Amino acid sequence: MREKVVVFTGAGVSAESGLGTFRDAGGLWHEHSVYDVATPEAFARNPELVLSFYNERRSKAAAAEPNAGHRAIAELEQGFDVVVVTQNVDDLHERAGSSRVIHLHGKLREARGSDHPEAVRDIGAEPINLGDLCERGSQLRPNVVWFGEEIHHVDAAVREIRAADRLLVVGTSLSVYPAAGLLGDAWNAREKVIVTLDLDDPPRGYEWRRGKSAELLPGLVAEWLAFPPG
Ligand code: OAD
Repeated sequence: MREKVVVFTGAGVSAESGLGTFRDAGGLWHEHSVYDVATPEAFARNPELVLSFYNERRSKAAAAEPNAGHRAIAELEQGFDVVVVTQNVDDLHERAGSSRVIHLHGKLREARGSDHPEAVRDIGAEPINLGDLCERGSQLRPNVVWFGEEIHHVDAAVREIRAADRLLVVGTSLSVYPAAGLLGDAWNAREKVIVTLDLDDPPRGYEWRRGKSAELLPGLVAEWLAFPPG
């Protein structure tokens, strides 16, 4: 049986594809207040502002291309049973070739009814406008997780993380819960590596490789593929 690798990613893995991170200098949460654009209350108060914020992110993500980091993660499938658990709402992992991706914070390219969470549809790069309705009649909104909402697919993510033989964490500040907390369930992982630019406090038990994921991941993946488990 192949070893299971769980790759847990955040905004940093897409930084070199030109998509902004959240908390770095110049990041999205420095330009916009979370409370204005990423909460259910913001959507109730000013839906046009929230829709336009996500319309812009959706069109930027659609125009972006996967980078060498996303591609290296996809290549891991040549030697391992790989599951990507991502906090990202872009689809760059899928477009790089990763076949199993769990999106904890939803997907930019999906819309859903604001009163009908089950009425999800793929909209690609298209904008959502005020007045666009789901098939059950409520206003469409992005199928992304806002602050105060439950994250998606927790059970599946926890199952994968518990079963991981190796854990590769990439491009995340590990500051947003409950997503970051799921890593505490990696009981079986014998090897844990984190690839990121900055970390206040590297988590215990991890090897920290400091640098850009598009530069470091191809080498790391080549190492792991060259010495697969016996
Ligand atoms: P953050 O912006 O909090 O952290 C990005 C991390 O990526 C930082 O630790 C950077 O050091 C690192 N980084 C930046 N460029 C990099 C590069 N080229 N290569 C490797 N690492 C790099 O983003 P997340 O941790 O993803 O949630 O944020 C988690 C969640 O907070 C997001 O999913 C979003 C946000 O609020 C929601 O919107 C619900």
